[in-house]
Amino acid sequence: MKTLNGVKGFHDVVPPQSERFTDLEQRLRAVLAAYNFGEIRTPIAERTELFARSLGETTDIVEKEMYSFDDRDGTSLTLRPEGTASVVRAALEAGLAQRDQVAKLYYLGPMFRRERPQKGRTRQFHQFGAELIGRDDPLADAEVVMLLADCLDAAGLKERDLIINSLGDEACRPAYRAALTAYGRAHFDELCANCRQRLDRNPLRLLDCKEESCRRVMADAPLVTDHLCEPCRAHFAQVERLLQAADVTYRVNPRLVRGLDYYVRTAFEVVAGNLGAQNAVGGGGRYDGLVAALGGPPLAGIGFAIGLERLLMATDDLSAASNPEVDVIPLTDEAAPAAVRLTRRLRARGMRCELEAAGRSVKSAMRRADKLAARFVVLIGDDELRAGRATVRDMHHKADHRLALAVDDPGSALVETLRALAAAGGQGA
Ligand code: HAM
Repeated sequence: MKTLNGVKGFHDVVPPQSERFTDLEQRLRAVLAAYNFGEIRTPIAERTELFARSLGETTDIVEKEMYSFDDRDGTSLTLRPEGTASVVRAALEAGLAQRDQVAKLYYLGPMFRRERPQKGRTRQFHQFGAELIGRDDPLADAEVVMLLADCLDAAGLKERDLIINSLGDEACRPAYRAALTAYGRAHFDELCANCRQRLDRNPLRLLDCKEESCRRVMADAPLVTDHLCEPCRAHFAQVERLLQAADVTYRVNPRLVRGLDYYVRTAFEVVAGNLGAQNAVGGGGRYDGLVAALGGPPLAGIGFAIGLERLLMATDDLSAASNPEVDVIPLTDEAAPAAVRLTRRLRARGMRCELEAAGRSVKSAMRRADKLAARFVVLIGDDELRAGRATVRDMHHKADHRLALAVDDPGSALVETLRALAAAGGQGA
């Protein structure tokens, strides 16, 4: 029968990659705990209206990338394309986003965008994100950017470029938008078909176009940093001062824009050099109007999200310990009970163990142990049972030891010895 394959752009995560995921998630959670953020888990489906209202009707995501479907009662639902809108909705519903209150929330989970799959881009992917809701001061911006940098440090991503910009606010952006539209109109013939369409609806996206002709045109386009109102300029200057005080390495790029419409003022992105075209590992920014747009009080907010698949691609050398520490091999059926007891104790002490089928030849058992790349092999056969001592082969140092299989304490003593051997390097016994 023909095998059934998964859906294009939706991927399984199998060992050892799944272990790298878990390892990365643990590192990131530890950083978030240090910043005193709490985890929020929201459903993967929301009303379509939530995203249409938050992300912007003219964004690529809302225009063409959402997985939307009608529920049986006719409600239009959408698989979340990102986390911020859901987190703000959930925080409002849970009463976490109220006047004079600060919510510090992080999340982790699958997101869905129907983009064209390519290296670093899938239709289901995972984000790790953080949102700081209820703070409009520059220290909050610095805290969130610092948090992002610390997350990337914890993940081992050293080769990266953190780019920040200010996108202005409702006071100064309209004038900038108008300047950009006028500039685009003056160069209409040189723009790609896509940008000609975007010119009136979302001119900021012209700065982001990858087409060579548009890039040439936009190289001389007006810069947002020249159009900031005084409060936005002062805010951005203070964010920079704080980032410098915190020793965060960053670069200002006045051409940085983001693919979502809710951003105001500070916006940022991290790119990694070794990823190819889809090189943004994470991004975020301030979204001061979003809470109110979703029916809440006029609360400010700022956050970011990291794409976990891309972060793992960018830190490919970060190896998770996926090989067993111990491969336990009962050479006969009679040795199986002792092997089961021993393995259970070792596992209870946190050792990663493989327990083999009983009754193989030493040769075939060792071939398998080689394949597993186990650190130690424990052989228990009739001789070992009689002597009450297992044969322990140190696979790194190619040395054999005979270690007691004490009936009353078959686990701990052996664990101590194995750990000592692993730390010291083995001399044959
Ligand atoms: P975003 O820039 O759309 O921001 O996505 C954040 C990250 O998710 C990207 O930098 C990328 O690493 C990853 N990502 C996005 N699309 C894909 C894809 N198709 N395949 C693989 N990875 C992908 C947001 O989503 C905002 N909600 C971030 C934010 C939080 N802003 C404020 N708070």
